[in-house]
Amino acid sequence: MSVSILVGSQWGDEGKGKIVDILSDRFDIVARYQGGANAGHTIVIGDQKYVLHLIPSGILREGVISVIGGGVVIDPVALLEEIKLLEEHGITVDGRLFISQNAHLIMPYHKLLDSISEKGNSKIGTTGRGIGPCYIDKYARKGIKIVDLLNRVVLEEKIRKNLEEKNLLLKKVYDHEELDVDQIVNEYLAFDEKIDKYIKDTATYLNTEINAGKSILLEGAQGALLDVDFGTYPYVTSSSPTSGGACTGSGIPPTKIDSVIGIVKAYTTRVGLGPFPTELTDDTGEKLRAEGAEFGATTGRPRRCGWYDAFLMKYSVMINGIEKVAVTKLDVLSNFDEIKVCVGYEINGKSIKTFPANAAQMEEVTPIYETLKGWNKDITGIKEYNDLPEETKEYLKFIEGNSGFKVSIISVGPKRSQTIQL
Ligand code: GDP
Ligand code: IMO
Ligand code: MG
Repeated sequence: MSVSILVGSQWGDEGKGKIVDILSDRFDIVARYQGGANAGHTIVIGDQKYVLHLIPSGILREGVISVIGGGVVIDPVALLEEIKLLEEHGITVDGRLFISQNAHLIMPYHKLLDSISEKGNSKIGTTGRGIGPCYIDKYARKGIKIVDLLNRVVLEEKIRKNLEEKNLLLKKVYDHEELDVDQIVNEYLAFDEKIDKYIKDTATYLNTEINAGKSILLEGAQGALLDVDFGTYPYVTSSSPTSGGACTGSGIPPTKIDSVIGIVKAYTTRVGLGPFPTELTDDTGEKLRAEGAEFGATTGRPRRCGWYDAFLMKYSVMINGIEKVAVTKLDVLSNFDEIKVCVGYEINGKSIKTFPANAAQMEEVTPIYETLKGWNKDITGIKEYNDLPEETKEYLKFIEGNSGFKVSIISVGPKRSQTIQL
């Protein structure tokens, strides 16, 4: 039996999808615990590329059960599209996917409010998937849950009540036309038929399976620095991607967690607004974006790129309790003569000891860099650690030492075969 949490350790897009796919052959169940269709997890199998937004990446492994936990916010339109896409590729979803009755539903007004509230200096650069507004309603105790799909009377009542308020908000605050209440009621009543079969008390299910000796991998979305509590607030998402969120988002208690695996990109990227100390806005940043194909898997936006930040990772290791990591996209650094690593932050010429508590302070920091020699060799075909160039091994040892983790997986390309396991 083992229960592991897999977390994104930076600002998302670290390659979680690929590593979940690699690890899922050792697990019986893969469960998502937070976020929604703002996530884009890419898995490449042979020549086929899959981008999953809501369904755990384990769905691509035969025999593995997928669970969407109660901490996730579900857009039924996105969910049904994803199920359809998988089935078109011959992947059976029925009987292998369970959705928590506690997960909240993303409504059309959440998506609309997400996009129209992104204005002026309140802009975050969200994915526009309705994530923030849905979590707002959850915590305001106005949300509509997956379980509400099972009772048509309750569902209709809740939608009408919510829309009364949302339409007022749209009209009076945003000067936007009101939404058609009957159309939304009918659309959501129809989801019931398509989604009911997946609904389950997943907390009881997961705990029962653990007691029966089954192993579970909890798949985080986004990354630690996008966490609503520990990220670069307010430039964060509205959920808890850090390992703590895995317990509340799945119903698996902390006493049953065996390990936390961090996914770490060999450099740093970020999509959307917010501080990013090691960002490179010059040709080197462009080169990282081009070599790493750094464009969003959900929105297609170019990702901001910069050097690896060991100071940030130390913080992420502490908050998440990360011990072992998978370092991804190491191959992207193959064509650089010199590679820089940020080992600390300075403010006004003084190095700081702890990670800045807010975005404003974070904007003021200057990274302290150390420069390492590049390896200038193609490593995408290497299968064994010992066959890596000496400079690559030095780089890995350097980031290990400065970040406080042990590397256990090295990814040198998007494919399953481009993985070195230690
Ligand atoms: P996630 O959100 O953390 O699952 O990551 P994304 O799927 O959004 O972004 C990671 C991107 O990098 C995807 O296009 C992957 O196919 C790709 N990728 C993953 N691992 C590697 C790697 O080791 N090398 C290269 N070159 N690409 C990788
Ligand atoms: P995966 O799981 C990278 C970012 C958005 C924005 C901020 C808030 O693929 O790593 P939201 O729509 O969540 O309200 O946007 O969070 N963001 C991500 N960045 N990877 C993701 O997911 C992200 N999900 C949200 O760009 O800056
Ligand atoms: Mg992604």
